[in-house]
Amino acid sequence: MCGIVGYVGPNSSLDVLLGGLSRLEYRGYDSAGVAVIGQDGTLGTRKRAGKLSVLLDNLKDAPLSDGQTGIGHTRWATHGGPTDRNAHPHLGDGGKLALIHNGIIENFAALKQELLEAGESFSSDTDTEVAAIMVGRAFRETGDLTLAMRQVVARLDGAFTLLIVHEDRPGEVVGARRNSPLVIGLGEGENFLGSDVAAFVEFTRRAVEIGQDQIVTIRPDSVIVTDFFGAPVETREYEIAWDASASEKGGWSSFMRKEISEEPDAVANTLLGRVVDGAVVLPELGALTPEVLADIDRIVIIACGTAAYAGLLGSYAIESWARVPVQVELSHEFRYRNPIITPRTLVVSISQSGETMDTLMAVRFAAESGARVLSICNTQGSSIPRESEAVIYTHAGPEVAVASTKAFVAQVTALYLLGLHLATVRGTLSPAELAHNIDELQAIPAKLADVLVASEDIGQLAGWMADTRSVLFLGRNVGYPVALEGALKLKELAYIHAEGFAAGELKHGPIALIEPGQIVFVIVPSPRDPSSLHPKVVSNIQEIRARGARVIAIAEKGDAAVLPFADEVIPIPLASPMFEPILAVVPLHIFALELATAKGLDVDQPRNLAKSVTVE
Ligand code: F6R
Repeated sequence: MCGIVGYVGPNSSLDVLLGGLSRLEYRGYDSAGVAVIGQDGTLGTRKRAGKLSVLLDNLKDAPLSDGQTGIGHTRWATHGGPTDRNAHPHLGDGGKLALIHNGIIENFAALKQELLEAGESFSSDTDTEVAAIMVGRAFRETGDLTLAMRQVVARLDGAFTLLIVHEDRPGEVVGARRNSPLVIGLGEGENFLGSDVAAFVEFTRRAVEIGQDQIVTIRPDSVIVTDFFGAPVETREYEIAWDASASEKGGWSSFMRKEISEEPDAVANTLLGRVVDGAVVLPELGALTPEVLADIDRIVIIACGTAAYAGLLGSYAIESWARVPVQVELSHEFRYRNPIITPRTLVVSISQSGETMDTLMAVRFAAESGARVLSICNTQGSSIPRESEAVIYTHAGPEVAVASTKAFVAQVTALYLLGLHLATVRGTLSPAELAHNIDELQAIPAKLADVLVASEDIGQLAGWMADTRSVLFLGRNVGYPVALEGALKLKELAYIHAEGFAAGELKHGPIALIEPGQIVFVIVPSPRDPSSLHPKVVSNIQEIRARGARVIAIAEKGDAAVLPFADEVIPIPLASPMFEPILAVVPLHIFALELATAKGLDVDQPRNLAKSVTVE
């Protein structure tokens, strides 16, 4: 939610800021703005409601004097609607200071009242403007931008990343963060700040993490990080593992289409180096030694949205292989319901961004409550890994489209690796069973590539359904999380009613929704599955067909039993039951993309959403 970029250096600030904002736009896209200290030494700002392109047009019509110091913002509105006046930057010190913000200042109402009584006036409905005016006042008293920031953050409650520039301090950008992301990019004679490394990866691959409650002052040749009391802190530099081209569309019509095409690679890269001589190797587990993991008596997986569905799928595998109870909870529910946590509880958080506030808070709560905490995350240098004992990074590469696709299959892969590692240290699978499952996992990337080829006609199918108002998804056992994921993707991209159900639940209520023409996707288990689920799901298909449903089955190639009852069959390659869902989910990602495209919608930036949900 909200993308932030800051720059000091010899190059055109506007170029750097606008380039950074275009790569951060997925974080929020209801307004955008920049502030630059121009060559003439005065601070200029431009801000516009709407996507970044609106700001770009405005800058063409009314160019801003460029300079070497500036900040830029792309907004996802919290306080105050998405209008020009509520867009960031906000001004303080009589228009000489500009401030941008990501987060929510929870005590803004009281602070605003105080400022009004002190004779200040406001020109927006945001919580942010309070901070801009306060820092401006503090700067007038201290003449020191960093000190002014320090004095103000001490009075703010809530979550925030703030960046400020002041026209009396060219060549200086000051940032502060509490519970919201901020990273530093180190250049030669130039430095950068960004909500994530995408903001500056075009210019440097050297990044530095900024911890919780820290302030950073960048100048062209220095970076100083302190805590909120001014004490210097140690920082950790790391190299960004991907280059700018990975976060560009590269000829694809959308990021989402590109990222779906990368699903085989996301799995392959997450497996890379983690299977050695036929065994799962996870050295990154560090303090979570085999002894600790053998002693765990319960696992709680916490995540939100698509990551939670990956977690649900992981729970079937981990419980089955490692024989340890696993429960999956939405992060925001877990934290507020006084859960039972002991030192033998392993909390596994899953987050693509590593910044989802609900999950971050749940991780912090779990650690404070004495649990062992492991994270599965796709973003280096993000907050959730920093607050966890250990992290298994998924190597899906940057995910830019707001709807998660390749991160999902990478998260499931990481969970399966964890499940097989737990089974090894707990001795719950025989060597032959372990070897079989590891082989199945390693075969997934090639099978996913086949799924992509076999799914080429889904566009046509979606085209016929462009006017549909509701789609249902049925799955059973490991097919159930796939049904949930298919429905979520369709809701968020195509803005139509979509629901995922456990197929066994059908007769307990949802079957009442079936009327002639209702489209129902059914994830069909393999007929080779030794459990009796296949005939049960085929019976479910007949029950809904009898009531007029139009059935699209995602079924194993060669599953003849399903053919007579489905209107369409999307075939997936043969795999062991636990691995089929990783294959079955991809046609649903493609269907959501194609249906949204057929409706003429923006698949990369669906309405009302943002990629990283950094507010609760
Ligand atoms: C859905 C989607 C969201 C995210 C959720 C968690 O397509 O992208 O549901 O999965 O907001 O985000 P992360 O994984 O960044 O914690």
